[in-house]
Amino acid sequence: MYAYILYTLLAGLAILPLLLYIRNPYVLQDLSYAVTAVQIGFRLAKYGRRKPLYSVLDSFLDKVARHPHKPFIIFEKSSYTYREADQESNRLARALSTHAKLKEGDTVALFLGNEPLYVWSWLALAKLGCTAALLNCNIRSKSLLHCFSCCEAKALVVGAGKLAKYLECRNFGVKLTLFLLAISEECDTEGIESLCDKIQQASDQPLSPHLRANTNLKSPAVYIYTSGTTGLPKAAVINQERVWMATFLQSVAGVRSDDILYLYLPLYHSAGFLMGLCGGITIILRRKFSASNFWDDCRKHNVTVFQYIGEIMRYLCSTPKKDNERDHKVRLGIGNGIRSDTWAEFLQRFGYIRICECYGATEGNIGFVNYVGKVGAIGKEVRWSLIPYALIRYDTEKEEAVRDSRGFCIQVPRGETGLLVAKIGVRTPFAGYAKNNQQTEKKRLRDVFVKGDIYFNSGDLLKIDHEGFVYFQDRIGDTFRWKGENVATTEVADHLIMVDCIEEANVYGVKVPGHEGRTGMAAIKLKEGVDFDGQATYQHVKNYLPSYARPRFIRIQSSVEVTGTFKQMKGRLAEEGFDPAVITERLLYLDDAKGYIPMTQEIFSAITEGRIRL
Ligand SMILES: *[C@@H]1O[C@H](CO)[C@@H](O)[C@H](O)[C@H]1NC(C)=O
Repeated sequence: MYAYILYTLLAGLAILPLLLYIRNPYVLQDLSYAVTAVQIGFRLAKYGRRKPLYSVLDSFLDKVARHPHKPFIIFEKSSYTYREADQESNRLARALSTHAKLKEGDTVALFLGNEPLYVWSWLALAKLGCTAALLNCNIRSKSLLHCFSCCEAKALVVGAGKLAKYLECRNFGVKLTLFLLAISEECDTEGIESLCDKIQQASDQPLSPHLRANTNLKSPAVYIYTSGTTGLPKAAVINQERVWMATFLQSVAGVRSDDILYLYLPLYHSAGFLMGLCGGITIILRRKFSASNFWDDCRKHNVTVFQYIGEIMRYLCSTPKKDNERDHKVRLGIGNGIRSDTWAEFLQRFGYIRICECYGATEGNIGFVNYVGKVGAIGKEVRWSLIPYALIRYDTEKEEAVRDSRGFCIQVPRGETGLLVAKIGVRTPFAGYAKNNQQTEKKRLRDVFVKGDIYFNSGDLLKIDHEGFVYFQDRIGDTFRWKGENVATTEVADHLIMVDCIEEANVYGVKVPGHEGRTGMAAIKLKEGVDFDGQATYQHVKNYLPSYARPRFIRIQSSVEVTGTFKQMKGRLAEEGFDPAVITERLLYLDDAKGYIPMTQEIFSAITEGRIRL
């Protein structure tokens, strides 16, 4: 009898995984992800309890002790071991503290490009208990001034080649009361102190941990600027806890301590800095991305992991084919924004590489990871997740969440597109933007499901299918409505680049007087040495796009402007509209009878005066 019960039980246990598998083929990956997430939670709690805090810097120092001679940063012709990185940053920390009188809690703005000094500066500031404000090194004048004043920086560290940009903002007549420190070049400009000699003379001995004794998990570690589509950049507060979370993402994605990471993304952004640099593995650092050098670099340095963002994979796929392109050790790509078709093409060309899509905003309190590797998905929903989030109905025309009769938001049914919002709470905080309550408040959505609750508004429209895979649909602002239809800009752009003469396309909506919504417009870049083929373009859009989605206007640019993370700029273009008096570039108009014809002042007036109805 007992034996019978025992056998039945055992058989039941054996069948259980099978049953689970049939119900959910991803059960093992789900479980393994859940276990990793729980482990991360425990680790974070443990680090937080340690007094003083065990920070990412401490983890770096442990690595210095464990393997001092392992290479940490490889840049151009130089290679630096963990010990050398430690010593360089000790010297810099001493020079900075002596000359800018820095103390724990001060903020220092870094204005430099991807180079080893960037890494030393961050480590140096962490050693002093200071917060680094990571300025976008491409910004200039008013934006630059705004960025270092909004985080109340006490000093500004200027790197090689950036002095000129900095000096421009002096013309704005603002009197700066901060220390200006040039760390990589001699300069005799009044008011700027060159630290080159002082860094060389400083001692490379370790700094006392007492300097950062009061740092805790909630202390800001860095400020990272996020660019809005309009207005000045905002400084997202990244506290120590967030830095830890981001580094854990590497282990969730399957990065090991012996991996070699190829890092070309700007260090002033969260992808490059938090998910790349802070992971603490060997890094091949590059100033910027180069599609033609990518695989050679990977081969030369035995790269095993790389990061990508936005259009990178497409750039790689559009390089000329080579015989040795499957000859490399790359096994993992981590990033965000690869399109399904590019994903498939990429694997087919360059061999099997695990692609791990991750989703999360720099300042957001929610993220997803596609740990299963499902082509096209940006993540997978975790069934046992404790984070309350929802996809809610969103009106793209009014640009606001749809509310029911009681004033609450409406969750969309599974499989439908909605705006991702995540409840702000103790476990899922939203630190907001430095000294900018207005922008912080804009990202908070109140009274979502009950009176008084607060959610973080991600600004992203997502879809979650019945298996729990999360798909990116659009960023608010990346769709426009025309003739009562939603037009997805990326979709139109993808069709445009299929036309032979078009290399790149940036699609956006422009306002037309007397019309509701926005009509489509594209800024395109032509292939080298090729003229615009109006007929082919017209045939293509007519064949593949519904009439409301066809770009009514096209402007031809010598290059399509992108942000530091290769996102296309749209805001300014949309504002410039389609006025030939404003736009000096070649401008075309889609005449329904004739195809794309040159835009004239006459056509412009006819449209704005309503003589031509679009
Ligand atoms: C790359 O790996 C090969 C074989 O494992 C090794 O011989 C070579 O020295 C490595 N190159 C570098 C730069 O580490």
